[in-house]
Amino acid sequence: MNRQTNLAELRRRFPLDFVWGVATSAFQIEGAARADGKGPSIWDEFCRVPGAIADGSNGDVACDHYHRLESDLDLIAHLGVRAYRFSISWPRIQPAGSGAVNEAGIAFYERLVDGLLARNIQPYATLYHWDLPAELQRRHGGWRARETAERFADYAQLVAGRLGDRIVSIATHNEPWVTAVLGHERGVFAPGVRDRRVAYQVAHHVLVSHGLALQAIRATSSKAEIGIVLNLSPVYPATDSELDAAHARLEDGRLVRWYMDALFKGGYPPDILEHLGTDAPAALPGDAELIAQPVDFVGVNYYNPTVSSSANAALPASSGAAVTDMGWEVAPQSLAELLLRLDRDYELPPLFITENGAAYQDDVVGGRVDDEQRRQYIESHLVAVADAIARGVDVRGYFVWSLMDNFEWAEGYRKRFGIVHVDYPTQRRTLKSSGLWYQALLTIPA
Ligand code: FCB
Repeated sequence: MNRQTNLAELRRRFPLDFVWGVATSAFQIEGAARADGKGPSIWDEFCRVPGAIADGSNGDVACDHYHRLESDLDLIAHLGVRAYRFSISWPRIQPAGSGAVNEAGIAFYERLVDGLLARNIQPYATLYHWDLPAELQRRHGGWRARETAERFADYAQLVAGRLGDRIVSIATHNEPWVTAVLGHERGVFAPGVRDRRVAYQVAHHVLVSHGLALQAIRATSSKAEIGIVLNLSPVYPATDSELDAAHARLEDGRLVRWYMDALFKGGYPPDILEHLGTDAPAALPGDAELIAQPVDFVGVNYYNPTVSSSANAALPASSGAAVTDMGWEVAPQSLAELLLRLDRDYELPPLFITENGAAYQDDVVGGRVDDEQRRQYIESHLVAVADAIARGVDVRGYFVWSLMDNFEWAEGYRKRFGIVHVDYPTQRRTLKSSGLWYQALLTIPA
């Protein structure tokens, strides 16, 4: 079988109206950190904490996407994708997190959305991909205060009011687990807090803000589908000991059930509430119903399985497994397993794989980047998605993370996830061989 046949066969495993896309987020690509009245975000500030970012970098310039919008839109169109998932920077829209719209800031997203539509690409927007206006953090501790959830609903309404007639899909949050746990329990992401009680209060307020935003968006004339994006994975015990099994069950509760049960079963999992004890969040009457309002879709971000151990040591990937440059195990079958489990355990709206991809060290050699490992990663995960669809899971789309190399949070620019290579000193973009392969898959005649 030649490669072309393989491609055609793979493509035929997906419905004709399947949404093929690529994804990015504002802070990771835009740069222009102070342009046109943008206020600072908690990530602008976190980058200035000595030691917070592995290479000491920040998002001031990133991929300079803000100033290269038109040529980046051409690049996205060149890939042949039907959809582009991006996030909106809240401090560009409201520099201090509340009050009037910063017109110059929203104008950028108007150009982005109109530029996508002009190229026949559907805009999939995310309202919060971690760049909280720093002023809200300063004023009342950001997400630890319920007030931030209220401000978020105002912001959601502003965006939906201005762009909701053209955006196809609005996700309220990207990966609330990361905001809560990496940002407030482990402190490795902005705002760098280490306090489990605060982390769970934050997790609750983020979900409350999702519920308030749903109501606020639905009060506008926006036609966009509305949902939320979660980072989910199967959790496997490191050994077959009872202790590890119990540990994995807790980890699954903290990563998957906390969010999925709240959104689709109307309450937090009792075993996790019991485990948290006095660290469980304070909630108001009605919060559970607010959070569990119907959504139009759920976005699943999947990279690798989670291995959970009761021993408090760093875990190697399970024996001999291939790992990416992040040290993350390559396990496509875990994606199929995850999707089947979600389908079995919950009454779900349509699913989208809103992020999937891999970091590898890439070199430009003679104008080309041969990233066969990334191509294989994407291909094998698409096979897993096709398997899940064949077994009845309603997956409507797939977005590669990422369109281009970018600022990988606490890792800085050292980890490259793009199917387009970015040479940061010159900002030159080079389509990697994985990108050429994806383009071939998407543009194959039906
Ligand atoms: C996800 C984030 C995304 C990117 C990938 C690698 O958790 O949503 O911004 O950093 O990981």
